[in-house]
Amino acid sequence: MTTKIGTDINYASGLLQAGSLVAIPTETVYGLAGNALDENVVLSIFKTKERPEFDPLIVHVSSIAQVEKYAQDIPQAAYDLMQRFWPGPLTLLLNKKNNIPDLVTSGLNTVALRMPNHPLTLNLLNSIDFPLAAPSANPFGYISPTTAKHVADQLSGKIPYILDGGACEVGIESTIIGFENNVCTIYRLGGMAVDEIEKVVGEIQITGSSVSDPRAPGMLKSHYAPAKPVYFGEMSHLIKTHALKNAAVLCFTGDDHDFPQDVPVYTLSPHGNMEEAAKYLFAALREFDQSGAQFLLAEKFPEKGLGKAINDRLMRASHAE
Ligand code: TXA
Ligand code: MG
Repeated sequence: MTTKIGTDINYASGLLQAGSLVAIPTETVYGLAGNALDENVVLSIFKTKERPEFDPLIVHVSSIAQVEKYAQDIPQAAYDLMQRFWPGPLTLLLNKKNNIPDLVTSGLNTVALRMPNHPLTLNLLNSIDFPLAAPSANPFGYISPTTAKHVADQLSGKIPYILDGGACEVGIESTIIGFENNVCTIYRLGGMAVDEIEKVVGEIQITGSSVSDPRAPGMLKSHYAPAKPVYFGEMSHLIKTHALKNAAVLCFTGDDHDFPQDVPVYTLSPHGNMEEAAKYLFAALREFDQSGAQFLLAEKFPEKGLGKAINDRLMRASHAE
């Protein structure tokens, strides 16, 4: 199969209606999309991504009305969050209706729903009469793609079309929130900062990754991982405990340390802007993976705003098992 890349919404829409998969841009990362209501299509998403079927998919919609079509018992807090943050990088776990196939939710009785904030994809969603199941458009466990080229690098030949919406603005996957027993809980840190969410729903719980049966396998310890080793921690400690020969370095502002000239340094935001750092995180991890460096020393970010989610991804990238 040849993979085309372009901005033709009608073409993408036709493919989706015919049961094919299309890679779609969102503000967080690119998704591998297909008709969420068609089990065969959903199965082909799992196959193309080599994703285990126990890991449920996010369903993308273009309105709150559509949420009511596929979910029930929607708590008030969910409405408050949708009204405040959608379209945006926030996914809600809600009790599913029967029209969502069990394969989408891996047999769970909740479905993950989100309205992505990207003009091309919102237009695309409005041109079809079904929602789109879309995991990140990367092979399972690898770094999520934030450009059409990232998608092509790994899925070329496996899908007919990549809808090119440019580089993702947020650059890190959506924050996932559930409402079990009316307690708001974050299942995956992501592109919507915890402090912003707390302004709407009050103090919120965050589940750790130590659970043996993770509710969101995005919470699995080893995930979002380059093929080569990543060591994550305070930079002053990392450079004391690792020889810098063959290393690359990933840091926030690059201000605090001097590195030898021959060490490649990925500085995510010279002026200390956390949103900018999140936007370039995955591109930097991919660049490192393709470089000659043998391992990466990744600095722990300040735990403010998106810093928590950045640290979460780097921590998971640093787990080899
Ligand atoms: O930003 C995003 O969320 C991107 C874009 C494409 O929308 N999508 C994304 O999908 O990151 P994926 O499949 O890579 O990650 C979805 C996460 C997985 O960790 C999955 O376990 C969790 O969502 N998830 C999906 N449905 C769930 C459910 N019913 N209960 C708990 N976790 C769920
Ligand atoms: Mg993913």
